Amino acid sequence: MSKNVLIGGAWPYANNSLHLGHLAGLISGDVLARYHRLIGDNVLYVSGTDCHGTPITERAKREGKTAEEIANFYHEEFVKTFNAISFSYDLYSKTHTDYHFEKVKEIFKRLYDNGYIYEKIEPQAYCEKCNKFLQDREIQIVCPKCGETTKADQCDACTYTPTIEEVKDGVCLACGEKTVQKDNKNLYIALSKFQKEIEANTNKCKNFWRVNARNETEKYIKQGLLDRAVTRDLDWGVDIPVDGYEDKKMYVWIEAVLGYLTDTMKICEENGTNWEDFWKEGHNNKIYMCHGKDNIVFHSIIFNALLEGLKDNFHLVDVIVSTEYLNINDEKISKSKGNGITTLEMLEKYNPDSLRFHIINNGPEKKDTNFTLDDFERTHNNEILNKFGNLVNRTLRFKGLEELPTGKLDEKMEQEIKDAYKDVATAIENLEFKNATDRVMQLVENANKYYDERQPWIQKKESIDDFNDTIYTCAVIIANLSNLFEPFMPNSSKKIREYLNLNEKGSWEIIKVDGGIKLNNIEPLFNRI
Ligand code: MF3
Ligand code: ZN
Repeated sequence: MSKNVLIGGAWPYANNSLHLGHLAGLISGDVLARYHRLIGDNVLYVSGTDCHGTPITERAKREGKTAEEIANFYHEEFVKTFNAISFSYDLYSKTHTDYHFEKVKEIFKRLYDNGYIYEKIEPQAYCEKCNKFLQDREIQIVCPKCGETTKADQCDACTYTPTIEEVKDGVCLACGEKTVQKDNKNLYIALSKFQKEIEANTNKCKNFWRVNARNETEKYIKQGLLDRAVTRDLDWGVDIPVDGYEDKKMYVWIEAVLGYLTDTMKICEENGTNWEDFWKEGHNNKIYMCHGKDNIVFHSIIFNALLEGLKDNFHLVDVIVSTEYLNINDEKISKSKGNGITTLEMLEKYNPDSLRFHIINNGPEKKDTNFTLDDFERTHNNEILNKFGNLVNRTLRFKGLEELPTGKLDEKMEQEIKDAYKDVATAIENLEFKNATDRVMQLVENANKYYDERQPWIQKKESIDDFNDTIYTCAVIIANLSNLFEPFMPNSSKKIREYLNLNEKGSWEIIKVDGGIKLNNIEPLFNRI
């Protein structure tokens, strides 16, 4: 029976271009979305630009622009990038819209009314030189875990999130002044009240999660969930729908994760469908969240706590798809080193399908991995072009062949195609996308081996029936590759479907082709770098 599958891709901050590390974290979402559509599920794949938060206001200040100008600039660039890399979002929006604001405020108010958001007056870091309360990321500390000098929100080096006590020794990042503690009023979300529910959901789902998500989430559960401030002394963001908080804004993570929900509501409103099919218990649904490892607990704990706190039969996140980090030339991606090749720069030069394939096939699925241009070019030339591109060329562009002959599908190859569907499905459902791409490539290799053994260039002269069977069998394999490669290389798949006159939607079962199709305007799928 077909499922309602919600896939959320992390919402990138609108303060910088998307580099290959972002792509490595987000591509899982597109693979899953395309796969679930192929198997016939009702898929909603949503994301958007995260417009609020201090990184954006900081950049605006540096550049003498407004935060809104910065957010709009990067939002436009992100849209262009995601189009260029062929992400199939059903909705890619942004958090700075009236719609998101209204819905988020309603949700916040409901959590407040339900008693899960409460007021607390507490000493907070204050800079007497700058005359303001400081956010954690405006404070510099030495990370108690790894010893690196870092901003106090989360360690850049080891991703450790410092405790309130540990932040107290910090200095103001802007002016270097030692911070003092001063009473401040804030609203808190009572995460501690969700300890049981979060633990139960984690235990229920964790076997399907990436290991890093399991470990990271269990670490926080074991420590005991701590309440967190959800208001901030900022002037850029979503207003607080509670009296007495007119001069504060919502903590960016609280409203940003709710974007998955507000996106769903928006698109279902537009389509006249029911958003609850994706988010409520009892609707045969599955929820995936895809992001890099620094995003894990915001999705596995905070977002789930918000959903639970609405006390409205919400279905919590089922699968946390968190990647490790992608290094470039053996270095961590960092703006100061200038090694963060942007995704858009890559796409101006290279085939988007090759970039997708390479990032999936060499991505940081289970451990940090390294990206080099040499490796990428090798993947393009030696794997994609020499194997897949070549199979398509030597079959559909066979010298002198005007139309596809009708022949008999080789039984052994037919079984191999069927096996590939099974194995690739299993790999994707286990979130083993590297294995999935390897498995499709294995079918390509077997097809090339079959072609070499049959020697159609000789068969053509000696036995036209055998020749027809060979070409027909290879064409059927290619037709099925358009399905099997669709989650990974959708543009090439689309071209094959056009060439072979196949259903444009694709499917996840063996398909056949019709003999007689004209083969005279078929272009090579890939060009050598
Ligand atoms: N903006 C965050 C980042 O780039 C991700 C936000 S994901 C969301 O790390 F779910 F909160 F939107
Ligand atoms: Zn200061």
